[in-house]
Parts: sequence; structure tokens; C-alpha cells
Amino acid sequence: MALVRDDLEACNRLIVENMQSEVALIPQLAAHIVAAGGKRLRPLLTLAAARMAGYRGDRHVGLAACVEFIHTATLLHDDVVDESALRRGQASANALFGNKPSVLVGDFLFARAFLLMVRDGSLEVLRILSQASAVIAEGEVLQLVIQNDTSSTEEAYLQVIEGKTAALFAAATEVGAVVAGCDAARQAALRAYGHNLGVAFQLVDDALDYSAEQERLGKTVGDDFREGKITLPVLLAFARGDEAERGFWRRTIEDKDQEGADLGTAIALMQKHRAFADTVARARDYGAKALAALDAFPDGAEKRALAGTVEFCISRAR
Ligand code: IPE
Ligand code: IPE
Ligand code: MG
Ligand code: MG
Repeated sequence: MALVRDDLEACNRLIVENMQSEVALIPQLAAHIVAAGGKRLRPLLTLAAARMAGYRGDRHVGLAACVEFIHTATLLHDDVVDESALRRGQASANALFGNKPSVLVGDFLFARAFLLMVRDGSLEVLRILSQASAVIAEGEVLQLVIQNDTSSTEEAYLQVIEGKTAALFAAATEVGAVVAGCDAARQAALRAYGHNLGVAFQLVDDALDYSAEQERLGKTVGDDFREGKITLPVLLAFARGDEAERGFWRRTIEDKDQEGADLGTAIALMQKHRAFADTVARARDYGAKALAALDAFPDGAEKRALAGTVEFCISRAR
């Protein structure tokens, strides 16, 4: 963050400018989620990637804002779909303003993201971020399709998280390469870095949904369980469980028949079968791939920061 501080401040100013509207409810609701903070991880990736690739102009600032707009729009929609009450340590927009304004303001932010792309003027950037937006939606819809189904496969789960999360990480870093005018190999390397980091990030997030302290997470622990989401910790505990344990998962996840103590039981079964440790180990594998992709670039402060970001994302699990 220190390395791209000025760029990030400029990006944050663009975010506030571009969420304005004469319809007061729009900036009210948008300001609620924007001011609540968030890690600004994806815009940081765009900024640092562009700088690492040698870019010295300021197009990357507008694109970083655009990436955060897409992210924010998906969060507004996601909390409606997931019926989540907490986001970034505060009441979610849907809890505070209702589902309808959340969906519509999410649409507004999506549209503003596309305006920022048009302002940038690169058709290649437009292609990358439009494609990512479609793939995010596909990931979310596929997740809905495999929800509550304990026969869902790891392959389907990976396809979900590659879509809903890794696609935007990959696009965020790839557009950094595009503005810097990288050759095809380096553009692909930055895309691979973002993709693998994104998968690692979501794997850790899926472990945290069961294992975190709510205060630190800023989201409700157990949301995934309540919704019957098929994530890797569930898949591992289910696969490693005996018949009685599988009965527990079928009742709670498949039949959506849950009572007070069930979340605690789910967590205990995951611990018993090392589901958290192995989910984080899987995240480490993807983290190593992200690090390897950085080999395409010469050593320097930005590269070290992007390498450190891999460790940051994985160490959220501790
Ligand atoms: C939340 O992303 C959505 C997921 C992909 C799990 P972040 O954890 O990056 O959200 P903020 O922006 O920091 O709140
Ligand atoms: C995040 O997914 C939303 C997108 C990536 C589109 P989740 O539903 O898993 O994330 P949280 O836990 O609500 O942040
Ligand atoms: Mg959610
Ligand atoms: Mg979700």
C-alpha cells in the first residue's frame, strides 16, 4: 500500500466521484459500502502490476477504480443472494436499505465501471473486463446450481471460485499489463499471477467462513453453512466422514434442516478431518503458482510487494 499510496488515493477519489448521482439514494447506499472500507486488494493489484511492468502514466488509476466498482457491485448483489447481514464489519446494504435498492445500485455501479472503461478507450481492456464480468456471473449462477448438493464435485467447486473470484483478480492484473504495453508472454504471466492468487484467496475465505472470529472477518461466520454452500472444507469433511457423519451433512446441507448446535458440529467435523488445514494447503499450492508467474519480471519493489501479497492472502487463515 505504501508503494502505490498516491495512486491509491487518486483511485479512491475517482471512486467517490464516479458514484455520484442526482438520485440521492445511490450515493447514500454506495457511500455506505465504500466508506466501510474493504482491503482495496483488487485495485492495489492493478496499480502494482502496471508499475511492476514499467508503466509511468496514469491510466492504471482509472482502471483500478473500475475494478473496485465491479467488485463493489458484485458484493451488493452477493449479499442479497446470500442474505448476508454483515459486510466489512457493518450492517450490509441489503440489511440497512433493503434488497431492491442494493440490486439496483449494484447495477448502477456496474454501469459506471463500463463508463470508466470507455473513458480509458482501450478495446483490449474492455474485452478483458467485460469477459471477467460475465464469468463472475457464471460462477455465481453455477454456485447456485450446485448449492445444497453433497454429490457436487471438487471440479465444479473450482469452476465456481475460478469464476466468481479468480476472474476479477486475473483481469485486475492483466489490465495492468495492457496499459504498460507488455508483450503477450508477460501479459499472460500477470494474468496467471492474478488467477492463481484469486483461487488461493477464495480457498482461504471459504475456510474462514467456518473458522474465523466474526469480529476480525467483518462478516457473519457460518453464512456458507446456513446457505448450504458447497465449499472445499465441506467436500473434504464429507468425503472423509463415516456414514453417520455423511448423514449429518445430508440433513444440514441437502435437506436444509439445521438447528442451533449444527454449526459447531460442522466445525468440529472439519477440524477432525483436517479440512481447514488441507484447504489452506491447497491455497498454498495456488499461491506458489502465483509466485512462479512473477518470474517473468525483474526483481524490484513492486515485484516484492506482489509476492508479499500472496503471503498476505494466505496468512489471513491464521
Ligand atoms: C470479498 O472480497 C469477496 C470474496 C471474493 C470473498 P474481499 O475480502 O476482498 O472484500 P473487501 O473488499 O476487502 O471487503
Ligand atoms: C463473494 O463470494 C462474491 C463474489 C466473488 C462475486 P462469497 O459469497 O463467497 O463471499 P463473501 O463471504 O460473501 O464475502
Ligand atoms: Mg457472500
Ligand atoms: Mg456468495
